[in-house]
Amino acid sequence: MLEIILTLSLVCTVVLLFVTLFNEYYQQRLGVSCMPTTPKVRARMMELIEEYAKDGHANIVELGCGWGGMARSATKHFPWLTTTGIEKSLFPYLFSKLRAVGNDTNIRHENIYKYDLTNADIILCYLSNQHMENLEEKMTKELKPGSVVISSTFQFGKKKPDKIVPLTGVYDTKIYIYVF
Ligand SMILES: C[S@@+](CC[C@H](N)C(=O)[O-])C[C@H]1O[C@@H](n2cnc3c(N)ncnc32)[C@H](O)[C@@H]1O
Repeated sequence: MLEIILTLSLVCTVVLLFVTLFNEYYQQRLGVSCMPTTPKVRARMMELIEEYAKDGHANIVELGCGWGGMARSATKHFPWLTTTGIEKSLFPYLFSKLRAVGNDTNIRHENIYKYDLTNADIILCYLSNQHMENLEEKMTKELKPGSVVISSTFQFGKKKPDKIVPLTGVYDTKIYIYVF
């Protein structure tokens, strides 16, 4: 019995170490960790989608969907809209994919900079200031007038937000809303 427990512990430790190393590799490569938004921020972001979604909006896109919690929430809250999560880091992507089984969330293993945003109506992000600066030109070129970007914590370099929503809690943060 002790042998089985020891073997299982060893297997779990090796798997955990492997996943951690892989995540570390992707964090270095992509410039941001796969830390998820807190439930409080996620809930507020859902309210903001509700507030900003207009007639004619059809697609929510989450750039860097991590472990898939926010994309899953969006599918649950807005079943009449199509939600797509884009993620490049392997294990978060696979986990998001599993989470999408049996519901309509689309999860894609892609680079956010290569993903075509011309059909995106509501974009969700929790990335970094550097990513937001890098994405500003792409979004300005590709997004349709009336598209909305809801970004937790990080803001564009030049474009001014239409609204800033402060949140208090374990981590004080802000959500930035941009209407194109
Ligand atoms: C801080 S996490 C946010 C996760 C999720 N959006 C949430 O709010 O819970 C940022 C995610 O963006 C992903 N990411 C960063 N750069 C990316 C890129 N160029 N292409 C695809 N995913 C990227 C990271 O792998 C990471 O999982």
